Amino acid sequence: MDINLIANTKQSFLKYFGNEPEVVILSPGRINIIGEHIDYNDGFVMPAAIDKIICFAFEKSKSITSRIIALDLNEEFSIDFSKKPNLDDKVWTNYIRGVVNQLQLNGFDFEGVNCVFSSNIPSGSGLSSSAALECGFLKGVKELYELSIKPIDIALMSQKAEHWVGINCGIMDQFASVLGVENKVIKIDCKTLEYDYHNADFGDYSLILLDSNVKHSLFTSEYNQRREECEIGLTIIKRKFPEVKNFRDCTEDHILDTKGEMEEDVFKRCYYVVKEISRVIKASIALDNNDIEGLGKLLFETHDGLTREYEVSCEELDYLVDFAKTESSIIGSRMMGGGFGGCTINLVKKGQEEVMKEKIQQLYHDKFNIELKSYDVKIGNGTTIYN
Ligand code: GLA
Repeated sequence: MDINLIANTKQSFLKYFGNEPEVVILSPGRINIIGEHIDYNDGFVMPAAIDKIICFAFEKSKSITSRIIALDLNEEFSIDFSKKPNLDDKVWTNYIRGVVNQLQLNGFDFEGVNCVFSSNIPSGSGLSSSAALECGFLKGVKELYELSIKPIDIALMSQKAEHWVGINCGIMDQFASVLGVENKVIKIDCKTLEYDYHNADFGDYSLILLDSNVKHSLFTSEYNQRREECEIGLTIIKRKFPEVKNFRDCTEDHILDTKGEMEEDVFKRCYYVVKEISRVIKASIALDNNDIEGLGKLLFETHDGLTREYEVSCEELDYLVDFAKTESSIIGSRMMGGGFGGCTINLVKKGQEEVMKEKIQQLYHDKFNIELKSYDVKIGNGTTIYN
């Protein structure tokens, strides 16, 4: 736990508002072991909350105006919670506006807040700082005004807030941010929202993230387009095979048999989805059986699919995974999250992490003239009240 981050947030709150905060909330980012781009395709995913967090300090503002301060950005905004919010040019404020919109639409009774927040989640790295922002802010308002909202509904309302901002995302990030548990991976059935926890025990291997330090701007438009392509594909499959209700009912044969009726891109997206759904099932068995080598192979396969079939990778991420394939200390690697930048997730032989990092940092710099960052993953708890 980052005690300095928490102390600094509380101290700044005191400086700005002259009081100790009434409530302090910690809200984490997430990783995903496997199951990429299938949360919105009725698949299974295996994310976990990490020990990188946003810390929020809150009090009731006792007026119609709320004042919200982003310490790290040195920016703030004021908002009247009794009015319907609109999208704003200051992008980070929209995630909060989106949450307020959700609270209003669901008929909750709440008034203004004063809030200061600060984060150690690297932004733009695909670790879902936006989900942490939505879920943490929502949890804060819930606690201050004693609103009756279940954890799963914090996740679902936060997902809708993200849709309001413009990304038609699945449930994975918000779910992991709210329901994460220390040292556990969550296996979520995104069709039913049932879930269970699996030990995050990777035996002789460590989980290391390599941060490409790039974020290509096509992320939002391409993301939304992938969703549409999958919907188009599924409609075509259902027409031919009425017994198919969703991608979970599909076999590879269903996809291959409808290939002639689909655009090439739509075919590739659907083929990836069906194979990724079965990879996650295999991966969760491998993890439970301590078959970490087997899990590693599946990560490489997922990356191949994301590059060639789903086409959401980029040159920098492919370079990192190609390096991993030639590096004996790495037994599995893939791009993680929505794509077009951010991190790769890697299973690295314990004891060889630092040598590996130094090597790839140098190579990456020589190739792209960009500094490669790396993070050792620690799996932490979901959104919590800090006492
Ligand atoms: C983003 C979205 C998630 C999920 C991933 C890809 O992180 O927010 O819902 O779709 O991309 O797996």
